[in-house]
Amino acid sequence: MAFPLETPLTTADGGLGLKSIEVILAGQAPSGAYVASPNFPTYNFSWLRDGAYCAMAMDSVGNSDSATRFHRWAERTLLEQKDAAESLILRLNNGELPHMDEMLPTRYTLDGALEKFGELENSAWPNYQLDGYGLWLAELRRHHEKLGNTDFNAEVVDLVARYLSATWKTNCFDCWEEFGDGQHASTVAAISAGLNSAGILLGEEKYIQEANDVLDSLLANFVRDGRFCKGFSDDRVDSSLLWIALPLGLVELDNPIFVKTVEAIRTDLRGQTGGIHRYLGDTYFGGGEWILLTSWLGWYDRLTGNEADFESAQQWIVDQATETLELPEQSIQGTQDPEMVAPWVKRWGPVATPLLWSHAMYLLMLNEGAN
Ligand code: BGC
Repeated sequence: MAFPLETPLTTADGGLGLKSIEVILAGQAPSGAYVASPNFPTYNFSWLRDGAYCAMAMDSVGNSDSATRFHRWAERTLLEQKDAAESLILRLNNGELPHMDEMLPTRYTLDGALEKFGELENSAWPNYQLDGYGLWLAELRRHHEKLGNTDFNAEVVDLVARYLSATWKTNCFDCWEEFGDGQHASTVAAISAGLNSAGILLGEEKYIQEANDVLDSLLANFVRDGRFCKGFSDDRVDSSLLWIALPLGLVELDNPIFVKTVEAIRTDLRGQTGGIHRYLGDTYFGGGEWILLTSWLGWYDRLTGNEADFESAQQWIVDQATETLELPEQSIQGTQDPEMVAPWVKRWGPVATPLLWSHAMYLLMLNEGAN
């Protein structure tokens, strides 16, 4: 199996890198969709957001066939939504604001269908999230360039770009599927990167121009005290802000606003056991320390030559793996609100394990460059 690691696995890794590839491939359905987590019924769906990072991780370890199959699944899935998307775009461009439940969803079944509500106790999913659409376009472009200009479905790329153009100023749920009453810096960043990527893929200047407008809005509306903030009306720092530079490249890794954001993540969001929280005040499964976010910061540390913090991030992640080397979504050893663990376990079962996105970010931390 191809495993061209830039950072060789140390013995401390115990095979976690190779296992991560296995987990992601095992979680890829014949359709090409990546399941978010195979053993957690609530996550038996394919999210564009999680999937984009799984595809990027597969590209980073030389398993580009897997990434290609995901992109073809995404294209088929989104083409099925063409009529719905066209009608939404028309209504939005006419000044109408459709109800959030009418918007395109954040996740699909592994067969690429819309999920049927009422099957699970969590019937109404906070589905209106735009970041996944932008992340998917950005990852498709990266994949396309990495493989040296492969095929992609231009009709779908154009459809998604027009959908993002029509929706980007609306309120939606954030990438943590919360706070549906505002705009979110990470979401705005993903939309800008997605539009820019569509512009590059299609050779359409208008999308690149629009991507720049969205980026201007990010810089004008989502910077407080010299660093990026979580939301238009939310000054907190959020670890997902890392994706603004890494991997989306909207600003450089040494951009002063970004550097200050990273410092705030280290100060505010490093948990008791050394992992990274999503944001202060998170109560989902108690608001634990997330494997994928600790990897993300470790990825930044590797790329910026901060070897000591990269190594401790890797060690912390290795320590979170189960005996069979599976990585959970989060560690609940150091939660922000311990009383909120049991209610979530009662509702949905123990923390999702393995979570494909956790494994993907671990591989990216070890292996991927900046852009
Ligand atoms: C996270 C999302 C993620 C989903 C599936 C949620 O708890 O907040 O970002 O896409 O799980 O992994």
